[in-house]
Amino acid sequence: MPDIRPYRPEDRDDIREICIATGRSGTGAAGWLESDDLLPDIYALPYVDFEPATAFVVDVDGRATGYILGVPDTRAFVARLREEWLPGFEARYPLTGENTPTQNFVRDGRNPERMLIPELDAYPAHLHIDLLPVLQGQGFGRRLVRTLNEALAQRGVPGVWLEYGPDNVNAAAFYRRLGFEPLPSGTGGTRVGMLTDATV
Ligand SMILES: CC(C)(COP(=O)(O)OP(=O)(O)OC[C@H]1O[C@@H](n2cnc3c(N)ncnc32)[C@H](O)[C@@H]1OP(=O)(O)O)[C@@H](O)C(=O)NCCC(=O)NCCS
Repeated sequence: MPDIRPYRPEDRDDIREICIATGRSGTGAAGWLESDDLLPDIYALPYVDFEPATAFVVDVDGRATGYILGVPDTRAFVARLREEWLPGFEARYPLTGENTPTQNFVRDGRNPERMLIPELDAYPAHLHIDLLPVLQGQGFGRRLVRTLNEALAQRGVPGVWLEYGPDNVNAAAFYRRLGFEPLPSGTGGTRVGMLTDATV
């Protein structure tokens, strides 16, 4: 039976795989960009490395098949990314100045300050959530958000936000259904937020 549990370091490769399997607006991203590692290196692996206590997985027979990755304090996370993650990231992913999907992600990855949105006082945390297709549509997304909200509320974090891409209509419907509220959005995607004491 699938079950939700805290992240463990041995899940790291599964986290990478899930990110690649869902990273193109909710569909498979393998072979899409110049390196399959680029999406996990931006949206998943620094999260489990720096904030493992607020990462949760859906465990199926000992393997992580879905995750929610939360960052309780986005400002502190951005500062740590800049100091500890960006040197390696910049070396792995040079800027070429081209207008390609790969380079657009490279620019995002090199600019963690994009996450310093003005609403951080009310929504200090942010999250990423992805489930392999086999797990979707069975209530695990809702349960993962509930699990993260409880962990954040226990830490005194009042709210959590996230951003989704313009093509991800399924994610948009999911977040709306769970009660995420629209936030002012940037050029990259749509931002929504939720208070962590909300009923999910
Ligand atoms: C988006 C995602 C996290 C949702 O998780 P999920 O487990 O499939 O969703 P749940 O089964 O928990 O659904 C929760 C509620 O949202 C609704 N919902 C979910 N997807 C929906 C959709 N595409 N359209 C309409 N409603 C939807 C469900 O009907 C359910 O409502 P209910 O509980 O009132 O019956 C998951 O499908 C996923 O990982 N997709 C691929 C990766 C992705 O897009 N991640 C988000 C990137 S921003």
